[in-house]
Amino acid sequence: MPIKKAIFPVAGLGTRFLPATKAQPKEMLPVVDKPLIQYAVEEAYAAGVREMIFVTGRHKRPIEDHFDLTYELEVALEQAGKEELLAVVRSVKPDDMECVYVRQAQALGLGHAVLCGRRLVGQDPFAVLLADDLMVGQPPVLAQMVEQYREWRASILAVQEVPPEHTRRYGIVGGTAVNERLLDVTHIVEKPAPQEAPSNLGVAGRYILTAGVFDEILRQPRGVGGEIQLTDGIAGLLRREKVFAYRYAGKRYDCGSKEGFLQANVELALEHPTLGAGFRDYLSQIKL
Ligand code: G1P
Repeated sequence: MPIKKAIFPVAGLGTRFLPATKAQPKEMLPVVDKPLIQYAVEEAYAAGVREMIFVTGRHKRPIEDHFDLTYELEVALEQAGKEELLAVVRSVKPDDMECVYVRQAQALGLGHAVLCGRRLVGQDPFAVLLADDLMVGQPPVLAQMVEQYREWRASILAVQEVPPEHTRRYGIVGGTAVNERLLDVTHIVEKPAPQEAPSNLGVAGRYILTAGVFDEILRQPRGVGGEIQLTDGIAGLLRREKVFAYRYAGKRYDCGSKEGFLQANVELALEHPTLGAGFRDYLSQIKL
């Protein structure tokens, strides 16, 4: 069964980016020339996902507008003969991509956000993408995971090695190695202290999950920070079915932090097809 649906939890307040996020969603902050959320949506599309489920909250309308038809803009660009820009605008939402929105009225945690997508997902396996984590990989990281899913037919979590002193920032997995990239997960703990972490493999914001996770999320008590945690739901799931952790090939930018966001801007600008060369010259001239 292919992965056709993805949940994007985008209801968060973005307090770490204040004042930039006082009146606009953090997912709309641009990295070089595209909003963060568009990177995640493009990654999902490249992996074959066609139904994008956004779990939104108040003040998130700009996300809906971004993926909507912009009729006046398109007509204006068409009349002005600006074909390239028209193609850029139209590519934001390809015709075979569907966007649906569901509200998370209260910010009760990532597990709760995923649960809000339950009725739209139904019984099929699905992806979860956290737009804060901007992933760069070739093939794109979610496509790598879909490939793993095809082989193993089980939930797949993207993981990377994290410094021991950073285990408190991540869901941390433990398990037995299947091969160089894959781990059969036996433990998962949300944000453990370094001495309690089962390994140094932290979950990055990409998941392929079976629908069984929904009941497991419901069963868990409130977890770290008093929140309904996705990690706790996955901990329940792995007692019933196989869950694998996959060391993706690629790089993650933590765009939930200002430092990671700046790094993403600099590195992606350097790689940009039209801006890259000029930006490189500029950087080489400024005094550091
Ligand atoms: C969330 C998850 C955590 C995961 C992280 C990846 O945490 O709860 O398990 O490792 O995303 O970015 P958050 O960063 O929302 O606190």
